[in-house]
Amino acid sequence: MKRLFNLMLAVLLMVALSACGKQEGYSTDEAAEQYGQAEGTETTGQIKQEQPATLAVTQTEMQTENNLTNSEEKQTEEGDNTVTGDISFNFETKTVLLNSGYEMPIYGIGTYSLTGGTCVESVTTALNSGVHLIDTAYMYHNEESVGEAVRNSGIPREEIFVITKLYPNQFSNPEAAIEEALAKLDIDYIDMMLLHHPGAGDVEAYHAMEKAVADGKIRSLGLSNWYVEELEKFLPQINITPALVQNEIHPYYQENDVIPYIHNLGIVVQGWYPLGGRGYTAELLSDEVISQIAVAHGKSVAQVILRWNLQKGVVVIPGSSNPEHIQENTELFDFELTEDEMAQINALDRGEKHDWY
Ligand SMILES: NC(=O)c1ccc[n+]([C@@H]2O[C@H](COP(=O)([O-])OP(=O)(O)OC[C@H]3O[C@@H](n4cnc5c(N)ncnc54)[C@H](OP(=O)(O)O)[C@@H]3O)[C@@H](O)[C@H]2O)c1
Repeated sequence: MKRLFNLMLAVLLMVALSACGKQEGYSTDEAAEQYGQAEGTETTGQIKQEQPATLAVTQTEMQTENNLTNSEEKQTEEGDNTVTGDISFNFETKTVLLNSGYEMPIYGIGTYSLTGGTCVESVTTALNSGVHLIDTAYMYHNEESVGEAVRNSGIPREEIFVITKLYPNQFSNPEAAIEEALAKLDIDYIDMMLLHHPGAGDVEAYHAMEKAVADGKIRSLGLSNWYVEELEKFLPQINITPALVQNEIHPYYQENDVIPYIHNLGIVVQGWYPLGGRGYTAELLSDEVISQIAVAHGKSVAQVILRWNLQKGVVVIPGSSNPEHIQENTELFDFELTEDEMAQINALDRGEKHDWY
């Protein structure tokens, strides 16, 4: 239906253009370039989406079809419900519209290494501080604690976005792994499920997640630790384009070649270890260049790093069990880094990975 609509639109456009004697080729490449340009202007904090917190896919489809000149529909295969639209961040609502049709906050809390009561307390503090995006994983052994904090928060379920991940040792029986995550979290549905990193059976595991989307158990899908080569190989084998790729990103490991590639697929990028990761934060948080920028804005180094990510179009999920840090990590929207400051931080890249994935 949508393809028919697009075809009719294209025919009408061509007739109109030729009538005006102005007909010029409008190739997919040009559309992609326009999309890239729109994407590349996201540093100014302009408002591009005015949408309610949770969207039906059909609403997004209509919106996408109405904006074909500045967005691109990349997937048209039968049975594919993925819509590619504008993934610019909305700095007013502090959300991004995913290609799945759902909105996701652009800052959240990571829960790696937080378990038991510490995890419940940290997530509760985060939720009370306005953080509505929570990142967990099977491998963090804390899905129950995250679920407990979400259920007890008093915040409507629809306003909280929970990401969890399947680990490669679960890929051989993904259906059971998905059921396990649903049972442990016990929050009705999973907002987003990622594959933690590539491994044997990852395509089959992703297909099982696609089935869970169709069954209403999961809303959006994504990948973690997939880079350009891995994506090129993986994407042709699946039906639902990932809504998100979560990779290691911090000033010392910036992935400046990978991020635009992913963005141009209409996929949102999220960075893990935004502060360098536990064991590596001391050096990054005392970096001289970032410290000077922080002083200039009256902000902390952590806030400058998180803001730098946001201005690059990267969603942040800093991990913390310290209530002051959790609050500090939400205060990212009352200042803006200049182009020169962004360039100074970009220049700190040294390709230094802090984990092996
Ligand atoms: N997909 C993957 O493969 C993958 C891998 C690793 C991590 N992740 C995800 O990414 C999240 C973030 O990574 P991470 O938590 O390991 O590392 P991180 O966010 O880079 O750093 C966490 C460390 O920073 C400190 N911190 C947080 N906010 C601070 C602030 N405002 N000022 C000073 N220190 C601050 C925390 O200490 P305090 O507790 O004292 O605040 C903690 O020691 C994880 O929690 C996890 O959800 C995903």
